[in-house]
Amino acid sequence: MKVTVIGSGYVGLVTGACLSDMGNDVVCLDVDARKIGLLQDGKIPIYEPGLQEVVRRNVEAGRLHFTTDVPAAVQHGTLQFIGVGTPPDEDGSADLQYVIAAARSIGRHMTDYKVVIDKSTVPVGTAAKVKAAVAEELAARGQSVDFAVVSNPEFLKEGAAVEDFMRPDRVVVGADDERAVLLMRALYAPFTRNRDRLLVMDLASAEFTKYAANAMLATRISFMNELALLAERVGADIELVRRGIGSDPRIGTQFLYAGAGYGGSCFPKDVKALVRAAQDNGITLQVLTAVEEANERQKKVLVDKVVRRFGEDLTGRQFALWGLAFKPDTDDMREAPSRVIVEELIRRGADVAAFDPVAMHEARRSFGDLPGLRFVADQAAALQGSDALLIVTEWRQFKSPDFEQIKATLRQPVIIDGRNLYDPGLMASLGIEYVGIGRGAR
Ligand code: UDX
Repeated sequence: MKVTVIGSGYVGLVTGACLSDMGNDVVCLDVDARKIGLLQDGKIPIYEPGLQEVVRRNVEAGRLHFTTDVPAAVQHGTLQFIGVGTPPDEDGSADLQYVIAAARSIGRHMTDYKVVIDKSTVPVGTAAKVKAAVAEELAARGQSVDFAVVSNPEFLKEGAAVEDFMRPDRVVVGADDERAVLLMRALYAPFTRNRDRLLVMDLASAEFTKYAANAMLATRISFMNELALLAERVGADIELVRRGIGSDPRIGTQFLYAGAGYGGSCFPKDVKALVRAAQDNGITLQVLTAVEEANERQKKVLVDKVVRRFGEDLTGRQFALWGLAFKPDTDDMREAPSRVIVEELIRRGADVAAFDPVAMHEARRSFGDLPGLRFVADQAAALQGSDALLIVTEWRQFKSPDFEQIKATLRQPVIIDGRNLYDPGLMASLGIEYVGIGRGAR
């Protein structure tokens, strides 16, 4: 099939690349000429495992093209994906200007039937706005060309996006047009072969599903983070509690990890947007409001633990920080807990020696020139001259480090672990003072 993807950011690029891998003829459009230039050479501007290969082989096979030429791109695809950004407005609601601009471009240049597909995370009611924008542009040209609008939210996890796209749990399609549903079914059939994983529903329900999924996952995390606070006080270990409850299939094992707080481009933004959308409809979402507040508090929990151990005034102290990205297998620093942690430590007078296997470049960009923060070449170097080691992101290479070296290098053998990577019993036997999240059991 002929497919156009508008927006070659994270979502658009994964969508375009994976669709071309199944043999579709895909054109990816972006306004950023530098980015398009890189992509044409088979280079990808983001870190995402496996994506580089998929892009390169499909560019070479001539099935995946990148362009800044709007009319040609719109001409190309019967299916027009919109995968542009929806950054939060000051009030937390999603800013739709790029989505609507993409819809207008389609209306301005289309000459035959198109299915316009919202892939970006957009609030309920956006499909109607997209439809109106396309229709307005057609009317301005005096054209009447048939088109449909479809909502097809993505459920991609950063770090596993290619895998998630290739083997989806489900594909949600919101539509009110039979022909569009047939085309969507055909497009996704190769990805959902063994089971019918395509869920067809009305537009509003499809749009709502995306927010509901992220809000539910964020709720589980904040719930566990709150229980972890209590577990510490009453002498329980949240890791054992997690296993104890996760074995109940009604609860399930995933997304129950207490930690340093959730971050990233989706959870914080989507929870805020849902709370805001409710307010606009005269409803207060009490649970989600608390989810958000609990997460803000959680991002400071590691610093609270540092303060409890070393005192309010951290002048003259240095802390080693392992992990900057909001989670492993990504270089994404958006809403990363490390941002709050580094700033709070430095505000109290400490220095920070930070290392991340992939996100150092992004971290430099996001922190700018922050006095007191030093990026070091590897995880061992961060320990030199540090009073304690703080673990913020659970990269695989941090899971079995050389504990003797840690102990010998740190000024004091203290590990404050925001991801509960180590066994408290082992740490005690090694003579390491170990503070995890919610690990109160003795
Ligand atoms: C999320 C959704 O999973 C995905 O379906 C959606 O399309 C986009 O948002 P992503 O932001 O890439 O994906 O990250 P995810 O792996 O879901 O983790 C989100 C955050 O939650 C991370 O900060 C992670 O550290 C945190 N987390 C996750 C926990 O603190 N505990 C957990 O048990 C799971």
